[in-house]
Amino acid sequence: MQAFVISDASGELTLGVRDAPLAPGDESDVLVDVEYSSVNFKDAMVASSPSRVRRVETLIGGVDAAGIVTSSPDDTFRDGDRVVVVGGALGVARDGGFAEQLYTPSRYVTALPTSLSTRDAMIIGTAGYTAMASVLALEHHGLRAGGEVLVTGATGGVGSQALTYLALKGYRPVASTGSSDETGWLIERGATRVIGRDEVGDKPERVLGSELWDGAIDCVGGATLASIVRSLRYGCAVAASGLVASPELSTTVYPFITRSVALLGIDAVEATTSTRESVWQALGEIAYLVDFSTFVDREISLDGLEGAIDDIRAGNTRGRILVRLAQ
Ligand SMILES: NC(=O)c1ccc[n+]([C@@H]2O[C@H](COP(=O)([O-])OP(=O)(O)OC[C@H]3O[C@@H](n4cnc5c(N)ncnc54)[C@H](OP(=O)(O)O)[C@@H]3O)[C@@H](O)[C@H]2O)c1
Repeated sequence: MQAFVISDASGELTLGVRDAPLAPGDESDVLVDVEYSSVNFKDAMVASSPSRVRRVETLIGGVDAAGIVTSSPDDTFRDGDRVVVVGGALGVARDGGFAEQLYTPSRYVTALPTSLSTRDAMIIGTAGYTAMASVLALEHHGLRAGGEVLVTGATGGVGSQALTYLALKGYRPVASTGSSDETGWLIERGATRVIGRDEVGDKPERVLGSELWDGAIDCVGGATLASIVRSLRYGCAVAASGLVASPELSTTVYPFITRSVALLGIDAVEATTSTRESVWQALGEIAYLVDFSTFVDREISLDGLEGAIDDIRAGNTRGRILVRLAQ
């Protein structure tokens, strides 16, 4: 089958479309015919050498996939079920979604709600899953109705979908971006206003900034996350999922012990089956309100992957890059 293979087995990184065998799965694996995949920031990290996230020398990339079950070891899934595959070692330590078929443990497979097509599911992808998981985590923590929620990395896959999902639920998302020329697009996605990356917090000389936000969704990390923690209103929370700027976090305990703020970690990779089901259910419930095509930066075949990965790495994308497998 045709697949996008990443390898540094020769000591040098090679990326490209090749004829590659379908790696045999374990007895308990589900076999999926992949219809769509998508390109995530993590795919760019996997396609690097050395890579902080890739755990094998050679693999088929793609941390996301959606398609049709063609073989299932038990009655969890039936042949013909439409599913999304996100997480586990997919595209990191085992062959991923940039291929026509894949085997995966069933715990990373979720049946799609009837309101979502496999194409919608990959426009959403790990990024949109993470955006909705972040919204649900903030709500679970007690996000006040109509609250103002900061969203960082707003033109990205996580950020742009977080804006839309927050707005649809009646909150007031504020987009923080380094791409000021995308202000109009961010407002269309649901932002009530747009601020620059450097305007996330204030009073940087103090351990506590002004109380600015009822909540925040951050996929940037580093100094941005530290500023958010200092600038949450009393009792409020930030849902943190990413590290596009930095994995470091330098803070004091003051925001936590004097303002009772919370840092909620969001993980799509090892989320439990029930968490996956509730996030996809929440996405399915609002699907009729969302024009998913507005998140698409571009739709490509396997041949377009190398350029797409370069663009993600350079931050030259807006929204989601969809990969079409089925002809
Ligand atoms: N925890 C999980 O399970 C999980 C799941 C999904 C994603 N993630 C992580 O979440 C992050 C975002 O993923 P994504 O798919 O949304 O990525 P993406 O589509 O590449 O978007 C990232 C956005 O961050 C901003 N950005 C880029 N470089 C930056 C920098 N140096 N400093 C500050 N902002 C920068 C840009 O937005 P602006 O130009 O608008 O500022 C960019 O569009 C990644 O770190 C990814 O690994 C984690």
